[in-house]
This record gives sequence, structure tokens and C-alpha cells, in this order.
Amino acid sequence: MSKEQLVVRKIKDGTVLDHVEQGKALKVLEILNIDGKDGNVVTVAMNVSSEKLGKKDIIKIENRFLKPEETNRIALIAPRATVNIIRNYQVVEKRKVEIPDTFVNVLKCPNPTCISNSNEPIAHIIDTVRKNPPLLKCRYCCRLFLPNELI
Ligand code: CTP
Ligand code: ZN
Repeated sequence: MSKEQLVVRKIKDGTVLDHVEQGKALKVLEILNIDGKDGNVVTVAMNVSSEKLGKKDIIKIENRFLKPEETNRIALIAPRATVNIIRNYQVVEKRKVEIPDTFVNVLKCPNPTCISNSNEPIAHIIDTVRKNPPLLKCRYCCRLFLPNELI
């Protein structure tokens, strides 16, 4: 049994986000809009020992099966995350996250004077201009920025 299994038990059904960069678990939950209000069990483990990453965070969301469109949103802050879909205790799907070409109403432009940050009823649209290393651009004010400017 690995150290990790000792700190977080296995789940029956749901989604496990594994290999999340250390310290990013809460930001990942925020980006996924997971706040526990739907009543499902959500377990967060931080600073778990990992052979690949040294230390990592793990999130287990019970009874929800997150789609790639949802989990890809976390690729900017947790690019090495593994998404495991669990059904009846078995890992039935394992995928990596991939930075989407466009973020609609997921990220906000860091330019405080951008029209998308005003009271106008418009969507926040951010385009990915380069994936590795990531470079982003606001559709409205055309400001270029790095992921760390969002955090
Ligand atoms: N997991 C879980 N409940 C299950 C099955 C798996 O919470 N019923 C979790 C494991 O604890 C692990 C992740 O889902 O964090 C992936 O499980 P598995 O593929 O069995 O582990 P590894 O082989 O270590 O994964 P990887 O190769 O992605 O590192
Ligand atoms: Zn902007």
C-alpha cells in the first residue's frame, strides 16, 4: 500500500484529480466551481508524497464524472494533473489535461480597465496564443499575459 492510500481512502464512484501541483488544490476547486454545496463528498489532500512530483495535491469528487471540457480548464495551473474516472471502485478512464484554445467565462482579463471587467454584460473571452509555455490573450483589450497573472 502506498503512502497516499494511507491518507486518502479509495472512492466508489466519481472523479479523482491526481498529480495536482502542490498547493494548487484550492485554486483547482475554484476553477471547477466545486464548493461542496451539492452535498457530494469532496476530499482534498495536500502535500502528499509523490514519486513523480515530490509532493502533490489530490482531489476526490464523489458521484460526479467531470467531462474533458471541465477538467481542461485546470491545465493552466495544474498541467501535470491526471483525471481518473472511477466506477464501482475501478479506474475506468484515465486522461491528461490539455489547455483549451479559448476560455469563455472561466478566466478574467488581468487588465482592470478592460471592458470585460466593467459592468457591461459581456463574456470573459481569453484565447490561448501559445500552449507551451502558456501565453494568453484577452479577446477584447488584446493584452497578453502569463497564467501566473491570474493567480
Ligand atoms: N483511486 C481512488 N478510488 C478508486 C481507485 C483509484 O481514489 N476506487 C485513486 C488512487 O488513489 C489514485 C488515482 O485514483 O490517486 C489513480 O488510481 P490508479 O490508476 O490505481 O493509481 P496509479 O496507478 O498510481 O495512477 P498513475 O499511474 O496515474 O500515477
Ligand atoms: Zn482584457
